[in-house]
Amino acid sequence: MAAVSRLEARRTAVRIRINGRWREFKPGKDIAPSMTLGHLLREVAGLTGLKLSCGEGACGACTVIMDGKAVLSCMMLAVQANGREILTIEGLPADDPVIEAFVQQSEPGYGTALQCGYCTPGFILTARAFLNQNPDPTLEEVKTALLGNICRCGCYAAIEAVLGGRPVAADQKPSIGCNIKWKPGQEPDYSR
Ligand code: FES
Ligand code: FES
Repeated sequence: MAAVSRLEARRTAVRIRINGRWREFKPGKDIAPSMTLGHLLREVAGLTGLKLSCGEGACGACTVIMDGKAVLSCMMLAVQANGREILTIEGLPADDPVIEAFVQQSEPGYGTALQCGYCTPGFILTARAFLNQNPDPTLEEVKTALLGNICRCGCYAAIEAVLGGRPVAADQKPSIGCNIKWKPGQEPDYSR
């Protein structure tokens, strides 16, 4: 009987593979029907890299990657992620070329791609998902893919430099940006 109960509990639990590890969330305890995916990831799973800002799909700060596609976690119910694979900024390896490109363009002062950093995880994950699908895009294509991401600090010129692979100021090193050659079909190792 106890085994049946456990089986029943597993059926009703919401299971999500987050950053390479399956996690189970119990209805009524961890998860409510109206809870957004962003809330679950931040407040229950403790993954605070994503930011909940506008809460209405207008800023991109809450972006995560679900089954390879960038999604706005404030616009999805947590239960909709049942059985899916989620990648948050915490699961992206620190030596990921998109992260390294932002780091290279983060000198203080003019030309920095991150000031407060609030928007940065969203920009990185949107760019990452896009570049996985489009390994050799033009700068215009990358900019179009990032139209839904807002930077309140106004770092757009430097973010463009990150993704375009060119320096903003003469004394800055060029970043790798679009010069990154993504191998089509190459899946990052999220379990690291
Ligand atoms: S918090 Fe989700 S789009 Fe702004
Ligand atoms: S760096 Fe502050 S919002 Fe973009």
